[in-house]
Amino acid sequence: MKNPVSLRALVTGATGGIGRATCLALLASARAHGQQLKIAVAASRPGPTLDALVAELQAAGAQATGLAADLADAAACEQLANQAIAVCGGLDVLISNAGVVRPQALATLTLTDWNLVFEVDTRATWLLARSAYQALAKSRGVIVAVGSISGLFPFPGLGAYSPAKAALIMLCRQLAQEWAGDGIRVNTVSPGLVRTPLTEPVYRDEEVLQRRIEAVPLGRIGTPEDVASAIVYLCGPGSGYVTGIDMRLDGGLCDHKLGNIPGKPRARTT
Ligand SMILES: NC(=O)c1ccc[n+]([C@@H]2O[C@H](COP(=O)([O-])OP(=O)(O)OC[C@H]3O[C@@H](n4cnc5c(N)ncnc54)[C@H](OP(=O)(O)O)[C@@H]3O)[C@@H](O)[C@H]2O)c1
Repeated sequence: MKNPVSLRALVTGATGGIGRATCLALLASARAHGQQLKIAVAASRPGPTLDALVAELQAAGAQATGLAADLADAAACEQLANQAIAVCGGLDVLISNAGVVRPQALATLTLTDWNLVFEVDTRATWLLARSAYQALAKSRGVIVAVGSISGLFPFPGLGAYSPAKAALIMLCRQLAQEWAGDGIRVNTVSPGLVRTPLTEPVYRDEEVLQRRIEAVPLGRIGTPEDVASAIVYLCGPGSGYVTGIDMRLDGGLCDHKLGNIPGKPRARTT
């Protein structure tokens, strides 16, 4: 975020839970820093949901443009980055947030589903970043990609999702190394259990909801805003010395395993 007068951003998966919250958080941050937000918000297809997000951002003072691109299509990724740079007049921030899940056991997963998940959850970030490289080098900009705790720990039954998110996290660490000399910072966030349209069917089951809440040491399911505020931090000057990290946003979930072992020593609190 180097441009003092405007913040130019591309957000993919913008109409989803975390994407929409990120757009609104970027707007709030830009306003707080006296910047005009010029934002390209991308969805997989045009339609009323994308139009409504653009209208909401414009009404709040942003210069917003809705763009449609199927990120499973390599040419569409490159076109999207170029369109975003054109409508924003450059680029300071690339938020690669779009993701898909095709739950399946690996023994029966189809090649089509494997490829789709890797195309959207891993390859799209590289193609968007590659197309935006010159613009980001010019602005000494920032990339934040949305990984998952499934990229850090295997999630049986989620098909290619864990391998694809693991590859995404490593892709961003490598980009961080290759582009640090250009002043481009690249980081990932790895959300844990977050209630969004992607996961809503799970949380509609009241018993599953309660058991999931109990599994999280902080005692609640994450919100899209929890993820959005971490993304905004990684975009801003406060994280100016941070590159190549993965920020886990899971309320302590993943570190809780050993605390559940039967017969563990009792923790002293006094
Ligand atoms: N919710 C969680 O618990 C959780 C946990 C860890 C990580 N994540 C990650 O967080 C990110 C956002 O997820 P979310 O929970 O906010 O889910 P969401 O509400 O379903 O949003 C996902 C977004 O990805 C977009 N997308 C999917 N396939 C696409 C394609 N082929 N081309 C372009 N865009 C595509 C969707 O766009 P359309 O609606 O236009 O199709 C949608 O806006 C994902 O990368 C997900 O893996 C989520």
